[in-house]
Amino acid sequence: MGVGTWAWGDRLIWDYGRSHTDADLQAAFEASLAAGISFFDTAEFYGWGRSERLLGQFIRAAGRPVVVATKFSPYFWRLQGRGLLRALRGSLVRLGADQVDLYQIHWPLPPVSIETWMDAMADAVDAGLTRAVGVSNYNLSRMRRAHAALARRGIALASNQVEYNLWHRAPERNSLLDACHEMGVTLIAYSPLAMGVLTGKYTPDNPPPGFRGRRFNRELLARVQPLIGLLRDIGQAQGGKTPAQVALNWVICKGAVPIAGAKNAHQAELNAGTLGWRLTADEIAALDLASERMK
Ligand SMILES: NC(=O)c1ccc[n+]([C@@H]2O[C@H](COP(=O)([O-])OP(=O)(O)OC[C@H]3O[C@@H](n4cnc5c(N)ncnc54)[C@H](OP(=O)(O)O)[C@@H]3O)[C@@H](O)[C@H]2O)c1
Repeated sequence: MGVGTWAWGDRLIWDYGRSHTDADLQAAFEASLAAGISFFDTAEFYGWGRSERLLGQFIRAAGRPVVVATKFSPYFWRLQGRGLLRALRGSLVRLGADQVDLYQIHWPLPPVSIETWMDAMADAVDAGLTRAVGVSNYNLSRMRRAHAALARRGIALASNQVEYNLWHRAPERNSLLDACHEMGVTLIAYSPLAMGVLTGKYTPDNPPPGFRGRRFNRELLARVQPLIGLLRDIGQAQGGKTPAQVALNWVICKGAVPIAGAKNAHQAELNAGTLGWRLTADEIAALDLASERMK
């Protein structure tokens, strides 16, 4: 599993600067490394570059190798492949690195074709600026096009990062997860805790703040409570795991890589407790059923 860093510098949705400080984030980074988690996902878009800057700063201070994934924003004014290379060089400056491990297209926005971006991605690999290429928020047909375009340049599509959690199971329903397994593409599951809701700490009487409270309103929070209860029961049966650990383990058991966001060392340590054990087949089936009933 990895750590998501959207909240590292984002004020609008994640309340950076008020709910968590740079010191908290550095502690989250160090706690993750100490627990053996060394994969971090960022984007040029997060905090308008601050997430990349903070991550670079923490990596240099730690002096240990980590696996870094970042993302290209296909803004409408970026109309040519060379815009991707320029953006990647900007990310590398903010990260203080010569190369990233994974470079992803953040969204499949028009008007530039998938083939044009994949060609630019292949150029980035050839230039040694990224080791691997990924996409994000691509549906099955777009993913196949990206895969084919890269294959023409002799490069494998490494990953597709999409929303996937017990609340949002579209990748199972629309066959994306199966296709990823068949094609050897890693499905990176974003918002694996449904933006914190699957931790169980948010209830109809205690909704998450701001935008998250609008997305997960009281009615939805009421509907998710039976699932939270089951996450708790399964966690107890598994020797005292938290609802979040069970929810993240479920993603892993489905064959995807969760990248849970963490704002401080405590959250990072708790999330790392997802590793080293596995849900049983019966527990997975029970969670599947509870999540279907919730809908
Ligand atoms: N490619 C894309 O379009 C896209 C979109 C979304 C996200 N992502 C990536 O996926 C990553 C993860 O998604 P996400 O940040 O949206 O949501 P998430 O991982 O589902 O939830 C993260 C939030 O839940 C709370 N939390 C996390 N661990 C906790 C714990 N152990 N106990 C209690 N609360 C805990 C924290 O917020 P509070 O404490 O404030 O509740 C944290 O910021 C992002 O950081 C980003 O890297 C990518």
